[in-house]
Amino acid sequence: MFFIFGSIQVFTKTITIMKIPVKVQDVLNKQVTAEFWSAFLYLSMAAWFEEKGLKGFANWMRIQYKEESAHALKLYDFVLSRQGVMVLEPLAAVPSTWSNIMEVFEESYKHECIVTAMIYNCLEVADSEKDRATASMLQWFVDEQTEEETNVDDIINQLKLIGDDGQGIYHLDKELATRVFVDPTLAAV
Ligand code: FEO
Repeated sequence: MFFIFGSIQVFTKTITIMKIPVKVQDVLNKQVTAEFWSAFLYLSMAAWFEEKGLKGFANWMRIQYKEESAHALKLYDFVLSRQGVMVLEPLAAVPSTWSNIMEVFEESYKHECIVTAMIYNCLEVADSEKDRATASMLQWFVDEQTEEETNVDDIINQLKLIGDDGQGIYHLDKELATRVFVDPTLAAV
């Protein structure tokens, strides 16, 4: 349809949002659960560090908790914006104890690699359904996962250098205390 204002023709059209394919909706639902589980995992790690008096490490993990929650909500909002259905599943229990600092970060790293594989799987489902909108949205997660793996790997490398040196742990704790939360999903806009 179009309107005529003087000599200016203004065209308008009805934008139809393509409903999200069910297979894509379902795999994104699972991803939302995984992201919230990740958030709980990091909050549990934050609590473990807090108990040990390592407030900087606890701060870093608490911010990670917020980042994972933001990831979950980005997917949640996307599914709903595509006229999909969101089903929130119960979260399985997360670990609550670790032997040492290195073990916590090694578990984080392994977990991020699993999440990366899940994102790739979501992308494959979107591609198989020819769902370009979801594939485009997921590219943000592909980039985010690379950053997340790198961030954890950097800390693991620092921990390797530090070894059992208490001074080193003290300084790393101070450094991690400076991390502030910036919603990654907003920073991308
Ligand atoms: Fe949202 Fe760390 O994966």
